[in-house]
Amino acid sequence: MENPFKFGTIVEEEYFTDRVNEVAYIKQFLNSSNHLVLISPRRFGKSSVVAKAVKESGRKHITVNLQQTTSVADLSAKLLREFFKVHPISRMRHFIKHFRFIPTVSTNPMTGAIDVSFQPNVDGTVLIEDVLAMIERAYSDKDRIIIVLDEFQEILDIAPKMDKQLRSIMQEQKHINYVMLGSQESMMTDIFENKKSPFYHFGELMRLGKLPRDDFYKYLSERLMPLFPKNYGELSDRILDYTGCHPYYSQQLAANVWQVGIMQPNEGNPIDAAIDHIVKSHGLDYERLWMNLKRTNRWILQRLASGKPLQSGEYRTSTIYSALKRMQKDGYVIYSDCYEVEDPFFRQWILESME
Ligand SMILES: Nc1ncnc2c1ncn2[C@@H]1O[C@H](COP(=O)(O)OP(=O)(O)OP(=O)(O)O)[C@@H](O)[C@H]1O
Ligand SMILES: [Mg+2]
Repeated sequence: MENPFKFGTIVEEEYFTDRVNEVAYIKQFLNSSNHLVLISPRRFGKSSVVAKAVKESGRKHITVNLQQTTSVADLSAKLLREFFKVHPISRMRHFIKHFRFIPTVSTNPMTGAIDVSFQPNVDGTVLIEDVLAMIERAYSDKDRIIIVLDEFQEILDIAPKMDKQLRSIMQEQKHINYVMLGSQESMMTDIFENKKSPFYHFGELMRLGKLPRDDFYKYLSERLMPLFPKNYGELSDRILDYTGCHPYYSQQLAANVWQVGIMQPNEGNPIDAAIDHIVKSHGLDYERLWMNLKRTNRWILQRLASGKPLQSGEYRTSTIYSALKRMQKDGYVIYSDCYEVEDPFFRQWILESME
Protein backbone atom coordinates (compact mmCIF):
# COMPACT_ATOMS: atom_id res chain seq x y z
CA MET A 1 0.00 0.00 0.00
CA GLU A 2 1.36 3.40 -0.95
CA ASN A 3 1.89 5.91 1.83
CA PRO A 4 -1.12 8.29 1.59
CA PHE A 5 0.70 11.25 3.19
CA LYS A 6 3.09 13.65 1.60
CA PHE A 7 5.37 16.31 3.03
CA GLY A 8 8.13 18.57 1.80
CA THR A 9 6.96 19.53 -1.66
CA ILE A 10 3.98 21.35 -3.08
CA VAL A 11 0.88 19.25 -2.49
CA GLU A 12 -2.04 19.01 -4.87
CA GLU A 13 -4.97 16.81 -5.81
CA GLU A 14 -5.62 14.13 -3.19
CA TYR A 15 -2.81 15.35 -0.92
CA PHE A 16 -4.32 18.82 -0.61
CA THR A 17 -7.02 19.51 1.94
CA ASP A 18 -9.22 22.46 2.89
CA ARG A 19 -8.04 26.04 2.16
CA VAL A 20 -11.37 26.45 0.39
CA ASN A 21 -11.81 30.07 1.44
CA GLU A 22 -8.21 30.94 0.72
CA VAL A 23 -8.30 29.44 -2.77
CA ALA A 24 -11.57 31.25 -3.52
CA TYR A 25 -10.16 34.51 -2.20
CA ILE A 26 -6.94 34.30 -4.24
CA LYS A 27 -8.88 33.43 -7.41
CA GLN A 28 -11.24 36.31 -6.88
CA PHE A 29 -8.39 38.65 -6.08
CA LEU A 30 -6.59 37.81 -9.29
CA ASN A 31 -9.61 39.12 -11.18
CA SER A 32 -8.58 42.60 -10.16
CA SER A 33 -5.61 44.52 -11.42
CA ASN A 34 -3.90 44.33 -8.01
CA HIS A 35 -0.99 42.33 -6.73
CA LEU A 36 -1.05 39.84 -3.87
CA VAL A 37 1.49 39.27 -1.10
CA LEU A 38 1.16 36.03 0.86
CA ILE A 39 3.07 35.60 4.11
CA SER A 40 3.24 32.76 6.61
CA PRO A 41 5.83 30.94 8.67
CA ARG A 42 7.73 28.24 6.80
CA ARG A 43 5.88 25.20 5.47
CA PHE A 44 2.36 26.38 6.17
CA GLY A 45 1.32 25.71 2.58
CA LYS A 46 1.84 29.01 0.73
CA SER A 47 3.24 27.52 -2.45
CA SER A 48 0.57 24.82 -2.52
CA VAL A 49 -2.39 27.12 -1.99
CA VAL A 50 -1.21 29.59 -4.63
CA ALA A 51 -0.43 26.80 -7.12
CA LYS A 52 -3.98 25.49 -6.68
CA ALA A 53 -5.67 28.87 -7.00
CA VAL A 54 -3.65 29.85 -10.04
CA LYS A 55 -4.29 26.51 -11.74
CA GLU A 56 -8.04 26.75 -11.04
CA SER A 57 -8.13 30.28 -12.42
CA GLY A 58 -7.44 28.75 -15.85
CA ARG A 59 -5.24 31.72 -16.71
CA LYS A 60 -1.74 31.69 -18.14
CA HIS A 61 0.77 31.77 -15.31
CA ILE A 62 4.46 31.40 -14.62
CA THR A 63 6.26 30.74 -11.36
CA VAL A 64 9.84 31.44 -10.38
CA ASN A 65 11.37 30.65 -7.00
CA LEU A 66 13.83 33.38 -6.07
CA GLN A 67 15.60 31.06 -3.68
CA GLN A 68 16.83 29.15 -6.71
CA THR A 69 18.04 32.14 -8.68
CA THR A 70 21.67 33.14 -8.40
CA SER A 71 21.72 36.55 -10.11
CA VAL A 72 19.52 39.04 -11.94
CA ALA A 73 20.59 37.48 -15.26
CA ASP A 74 19.57 34.07 -13.93
CA LEU A 75 16.20 35.45 -12.76
CA SER A 76 15.63 36.93 -16.24
CA ALA A 77 16.56 33.64 -17.92
CA LYS A 78 14.24 31.67 -15.62
CA LEU A 79 11.33 34.03 -16.29
CA LEU A 80 11.93 33.65 -20.01
CA ARG A 81 12.18 29.87 -19.77
CA GLU A 82 8.89 29.69 -17.87
CA PHE A 83 7.30 32.02 -20.39
CA PHE A 84 8.21 29.63 -23.20
CA LYS A 85 6.62 26.77 -21.29
CA VAL A 86 3.25 28.44 -21.85
CA HIS A 87 3.89 29.97 -25.29
CA PRO A 88 4.86 28.39 -28.56
CA ILE A 89 8.59 28.43 -28.87
CA SER A 90 8.12 28.76 -32.63
CA ARG A 91 7.09 32.38 -32.00
CA MET A 92 10.24 33.13 -30.06
CA ARG A 93 11.68 35.45 -32.73
CA HIS A 94 8.56 37.54 -32.61
CA PHE A 95 8.58 37.76 -28.82
CA ILE A 96 12.23 38.68 -28.33
CA LYS A 97 12.60 41.13 -31.18
CA HIS A 98 13.06 44.07 -28.79
CA PHE A 99 15.76 42.39 -26.72
CA ARG A 100 19.06 44.20 -26.40
CA PHE A 101 20.86 40.90 -25.69
CA ILE A 102 19.91 37.70 -27.45
CA PRO A 103 19.43 34.66 -25.23
CA THR A 104 20.76 31.19 -25.99
CA VAL A 105 17.91 28.70 -26.07
CA SER A 106 18.46 24.98 -26.17
CA THR A 107 16.15 22.01 -26.00
CA ASN A 108 17.03 18.88 -24.14
CA PRO A 109 16.51 16.16 -26.78
CA MET A 110 15.64 13.54 -24.17
CA THR A 111 13.05 15.43 -22.15
CA GLY A 112 12.06 18.17 -24.57
CA ALA A 113 12.62 20.72 -21.78
CA ILE A 114 13.92 24.12 -22.84
CA ASP A 115 16.82 25.86 -21.24
CA VAL A 116 17.47 29.58 -21.56
CA SER A 117 20.64 31.46 -20.72
CA PHE A 118 22.29 34.79 -21.42
CA GLN A 119 25.94 35.41 -22.13
CA PRO A 120 27.92 35.92 -18.97
CA ASN A 121 28.84 39.48 -18.02
CA VAL A 122 25.86 41.14 -19.64
CA ASP A 123 24.07 43.74 -17.55
CA GLY A 124 21.34 41.98 -15.58
CA THR A 125 19.33 45.17 -15.14
CA VAL A 126 18.90 45.41 -18.93
CA LEU A 127 17.89 41.74 -19.18
CA ILE A 128 15.20 41.90 -16.51
CA GLU A 129 13.80 45.08 -18.05
CA ASP A 130 13.60 43.47 -21.51
CA VAL A 131 12.10 40.22 -20.29
CA LEU A 132 9.40 41.88 -18.17
CA ALA A 133 8.62 44.37 -20.94
CA MET A 134 8.18 41.49 -23.38
CA ILE A 135 5.78 39.66 -21.04
CA GLU A 136 3.79 42.87 -20.56
CA ARG A 137 3.56 43.34 -24.34
CA ALA A 138 2.32 39.79 -24.87
CA TYR A 139 -0.84 40.50 -22.80
CA SER A 140 -3.57 43.09 -22.46
CA ASP A 141 -5.61 44.49 -19.59
CA LYS A 142 -8.48 42.15 -20.55
CA ASP A 143 -6.15 39.16 -20.51
CA ARG A 144 -3.51 39.38 -17.80
CA ILE A 145 -0.84 36.80 -17.07
CA ILE A 146 -0.07 35.77 -13.47
CA ILE A 147 3.55 35.81 -12.34
CA VAL A 148 4.23 34.04 -9.05
CA LEU A 149 7.48 35.05 -7.36
CA ASP A 150 8.09 32.53 -4.59
CA GLU A 151 10.47 33.24 -1.68
CA PHE A 152 10.28 36.88 -2.69
CA GLN A 153 12.30 38.11 0.31
CA GLU A 154 15.40 36.80 -1.54
CA ILE A 155 15.12 39.84 -3.80
CA LEU A 156 17.11 41.74 -1.18
CA ASP A 157 20.02 39.34 -1.65
CA ILE A 158 20.09 38.90 -5.42
CA ALA A 159 21.71 42.24 -6.22
CA PRO A 160 21.97 45.65 -4.59
CA LYS A 161 18.99 47.94 -5.35
CA MET A 162 17.22 45.14 -7.21
CA ASP A 163 14.06 45.80 -5.21
CA LYS A 164 14.07 49.41 -6.38
CA GLN A 165 14.55 48.51 -10.03
CA LEU A 166 11.97 45.75 -9.98
CA ARG A 167 9.43 47.98 -8.33
CA SER A 168 9.92 50.74 -10.89
CA ILE A 169 9.35 48.25 -13.73
CA MET A 170 6.40 46.54 -12.08
CA GLN A 171 4.50 49.68 -11.18
CA GLU A 172 4.22 50.67 -14.84
CA GLN A 173 2.80 47.31 -15.89
CA LYS A 174 -0.90 46.73 -16.39
CA HIS A 175 -1.04 43.27 -17.95
CA ILE A 176 0.49 41.22 -15.18
CA ASN A 177 -0.81 40.13 -11.78
CA TYR A 178 2.09 39.52 -9.44
CA VAL A 179 1.76 37.11 -6.53
CA MET A 180 4.66 37.38 -4.13
CA LEU A 181 5.18 34.72 -1.46
CA GLY A 182 7.58 34.68 1.40
CA SER A 183 8.30 32.88 4.59
CA GLN A 184 10.77 35.08 6.38
CA GLU A 185 8.14 36.95 8.27
CA SER A 186 9.99 40.02 9.34
CA MET A 187 11.76 40.47 6.00
CA MET A 188 8.52 40.22 4.05
CA THR A 189 6.74 42.69 6.31
CA ASP A 190 9.74 44.97 6.03
CA ILE A 191 9.58 44.86 2.23
CA PHE A 192 5.86 45.57 2.03
CA GLU A 193 5.07 47.48 5.23
CA ASN A 194 8.08 49.69 5.76
CA LYS A 195 7.51 53.18 4.38
CA LYS A 196 11.12 53.40 3.23
CA SER A 197 10.94 50.20 1.18
CA PRO A 198 10.34 50.54 -2.60
CA PHE A 199 7.60 47.90 -2.31
CA TYR A 200 5.75 49.74 0.47
CA HIS A 201 2.03 48.85 0.11
CA PHE A 202 2.62 47.43 -3.35
CA GLY A 203 0.08 44.65 -2.94
CA GLU A 204 -2.63 43.26 -0.70
CA LEU A 205 -1.13 41.47 2.29
CA MET A 206 -2.60 38.05 3.06
CA ARG A 207 -1.52 35.79 5.90
CA LEU A 208 -1.94 32.04 5.90
CA GLY A 209 -2.71 30.24 9.16
CA LYS A 210 -2.51 26.59 10.13
CA LEU A 211 -5.11 24.18 8.72
CA PRO A 212 -8.48 23.99 10.52
CA ARG A 213 -8.53 21.02 12.85
CA ASP A 214 -11.84 19.47 11.70
CA ASP A 215 -10.78 19.25 8.08
CA PHE A 216 -7.33 18.02 8.86
CA TYR A 217 -8.80 15.42 11.23
CA LYS A 218 -11.04 14.14 8.46
CA TYR A 219 -8.12 14.07 6.02
CA LEU A 220 -5.92 12.08 8.41
CA SER A 221 -8.56 9.66 9.67
CA GLU A 222 -9.82 8.71 6.20
CA ARG A 223 -6.30 7.78 5.21
CA LEU A 224 -5.31 6.00 8.42
CA MET A 225 -8.53 3.94 8.49
CA PRO A 226 -7.43 1.08 6.17
CA LEU A 227 -4.31 0.38 8.21
CA PHE A 228 -5.68 1.18 11.69
CA PRO A 229 -9.39 0.25 11.48
CA LYS A 230 -9.79 0.17 15.28
CA ASN A 231 -8.14 3.39 16.38
CA TYR A 232 -7.71 5.66 13.34
CA GLY A 233 -9.74 8.44 15.03
CA GLU A 234 -7.70 8.44 18.19
CA LEU A 235 -4.45 8.39 16.18
CA SER A 236 -5.57 11.36 14.10
CA ASP A 237 -6.39 13.32 17.23
CA ARG A 238 -3.06 12.53 18.79
CA ILE A 239 -1.17 13.56 15.66
CA LEU A 240 -2.93 16.94 15.59
CA ASP A 241 -2.46 17.46 19.34
CA TYR A 242 1.23 16.84 18.91
CA THR A 243 1.77 19.08 15.88
CA GLY A 244 -0.81 21.75 16.71
CA CYS A 245 -2.30 21.27 13.19
CA HIS A 246 0.88 22.42 11.48
CA PRO A 247 0.39 21.33 7.84
CA TYR A 248 3.88 20.00 7.17
CA TYR A 249 4.65 18.39 10.54
CA SER A 250 1.22 16.74 10.69
CA GLN A 251 1.75 15.13 7.29
CA GLN A 252 5.28 14.15 8.28
CA LEU A 253 4.11 12.49 11.51
CA ALA A 254 1.16 10.81 9.79
CA ALA A 255 3.46 9.44 7.06
CA ASN A 256 5.73 7.97 9.75
CA VAL A 257 2.81 6.51 11.72
CA TRP A 258 1.71 4.84 8.50
CA GLN A 259 5.21 3.50 8.00
CA VAL A 260 5.24 2.04 11.54
CA GLY A 261 1.86 0.44 10.85
CA ILE A 262 3.30 -1.30 7.78
CA MET A 263 6.68 -2.26 9.19
CA GLN A 264 5.73 -3.07 12.81
CA PRO A 265 2.06 -4.09 12.77
CA ASN A 266 2.25 -5.25 16.39
CA GLU A 267 3.55 -1.95 17.73
CA GLY A 268 1.08 -0.91 20.45
CA ASN A 269 1.95 2.78 20.29
CA PRO A 270 2.65 3.78 16.69
CA ILE A 271 2.61 7.52 17.49
CA ASP A 272 5.42 7.37 20.03
CA ALA A 273 7.35 4.99 17.79
CA ALA A 274 7.01 7.39 14.85
CA ILE A 275 8.01 10.44 16.93
CA ASP A 276 10.98 8.56 18.30
CA HIS A 277 12.07 7.62 14.79
CA ILE A 278 11.81 11.20 13.49
CA VAL A 279 13.61 12.72 16.49
CA LYS A 280 16.43 10.16 16.24
CA SER A 281 16.85 10.61 12.50
CA HIS A 282 17.25 14.39 12.96
CA GLY A 283 19.36 14.09 16.10
CA LEU A 284 22.62 15.18 14.50
CA ASP A 285 21.08 18.27 12.88
CA TYR A 286 19.42 19.26 16.13
CA GLU A 287 22.66 18.87 18.02
CA ARG A 288 24.57 21.02 15.54
CA LEU A 289 21.85 23.63 15.64
CA TRP A 290 21.86 23.64 19.45
CA MET A 291 25.63 24.04 19.66
CA ASN A 292 25.37 27.20 17.54
CA LEU A 293 22.74 28.83 19.73
CA LYS A 294 23.50 31.44 22.35
CA ARG A 295 22.87 30.56 25.98
CA THR A 296 19.88 32.92 26.27
CA ASN A 297 18.30 31.33 23.21
CA ARG A 298 18.83 27.83 24.58
CA TRP A 299 17.20 28.86 27.84
CA ILE A 300 14.20 30.36 26.02
CA LEU A 301 13.76 27.26 23.87
CA GLN A 302 13.88 25.02 26.94
CA ARG A 303 11.24 27.14 28.67
CA LEU A 304 9.00 27.13 25.59
CA ALA A 305 9.48 23.38 25.10
CA SER A 306 8.49 22.58 28.66
CA GLY A 307 5.63 25.08 28.72
CA LYS A 308 7.14 27.17 31.52
CA PRO A 309 6.71 30.94 31.68
CA LEU A 310 9.51 33.13 30.34
CA GLN A 311 8.99 35.84 32.94
CA SER A 312 10.82 34.13 35.78
CA GLY A 313 13.28 36.86 36.66
CA GLU A 314 16.19 34.99 35.12
CA TYR A 315 16.51 37.38 32.17
CA ARG A 316 15.27 40.92 31.59
CA THR A 317 12.02 41.21 29.63
CA SER A 318 13.72 43.29 26.94
CA THR A 319 16.45 40.64 26.52
CA ILE A 320 13.85 37.88 26.18
CA TYR A 321 11.78 39.89 23.76
CA SER A 322 14.62 40.73 21.40
CA ALA A 323 15.92 37.13 21.51
CA LEU A 324 12.42 35.88 20.66
CA LYS A 325 12.18 38.28 17.73
CA ARG A 326 15.53 37.12 16.39
CA MET A 327 14.63 33.46 16.75
CA GLN A 328 11.31 34.09 15.04
CA LYS A 329 13.16 35.70 12.16
CA ASP A 330 15.49 32.71 11.97
CA GLY A 331 12.53 30.34 12.05
CA TYR A 332 13.20 28.59 15.39
CA VAL A 333 10.07 29.91 17.04
CA ILE A 334 6.71 30.90 15.63
CA TYR A 335 3.97 33.01 17.02
CA SER A 336 0.32 32.06 16.46
CA ASP A 337 -1.55 32.53 19.75
CA CYS A 338 1.63 32.42 21.76
CA TYR A 339 5.29 31.77 21.10
CA GLU A 340 6.16 28.13 20.45
CA VAL A 341 9.08 26.07 19.21
CA GLU A 342 8.53 25.84 15.45
CA ASP A 343 9.47 22.20 14.99
CA PRO A 344 7.63 19.84 17.38
CA PHE A 345 10.33 17.18 16.92
CA PHE A 346 13.04 19.66 17.87
CA ARG A 347 10.90 20.53 20.88
CA GLN A 348 10.88 16.82 21.77
CA TRP A 349 14.64 16.61 21.31
CA ILE A 350 15.10 19.60 23.63
CA LEU A 351 12.87 18.00 26.28
CA GLU A 352 14.71 14.70 26.05
CA SER A 353 18.10 16.37 26.28
CA MET A 354 16.99 18.20 29.45
CA GLU A 355 16.32 14.93 31.29
N1 LIG B 1 -3.68 22.28 1.97
C1 LIG B 1 -2.86 21.32 2.43
N2 LIG B 1 -3.32 20.08 2.70
C2 LIG B 1 -2.50 19.14 3.19
N3 LIG B 1 -1.20 19.32 3.44
C3 LIG B 1 -0.68 20.53 3.21
C4 LIG B 1 -1.47 21.60 2.68
N4 LIG B 1 -0.69 22.67 2.53
C5 LIG B 1 0.55 22.30 2.94
N5 LIG B 1 0.57 21.02 3.34
C6 LIG B 1 1.75 20.29 3.89
O1 LIG B 1 2.78 21.23 4.14
C7 LIG B 1 3.91 20.99 3.28
C8 LIG B 1 4.50 22.31 2.82
O2 LIG B 1 3.65 22.95 1.87
P1 LIG B 1 4.17 24.13 0.95
O3 LIG B 1 5.49 23.75 0.36
O4 LIG B 1 3.07 24.51 0.06
O5 LIG B 1 4.39 25.26 2.06
P2 LIG B 1 5.18 26.62 1.99
O6 LIG B 1 4.55 27.52 3.00
O7 LIG B 1 5.30 27.09 0.60
O8 LIG B 1 6.61 26.12 2.52
P3 LIG B 1 8.05 26.85 2.41
O9 LIG B 1 8.08 27.82 3.55
O10 LIG B 1 9.03 25.71 2.65
O11 LIG B 1 8.15 27.46 1.07
C9 LIG B 1 3.37 20.12 2.16
O12 LIG B 1 4.37 19.28 1.61
C10 LIG B 1 2.31 19.31 2.87
O13 LIG B 1 2.86 18.22 3.58
MG1 LIG C 1 7.00 27.50 -0.59
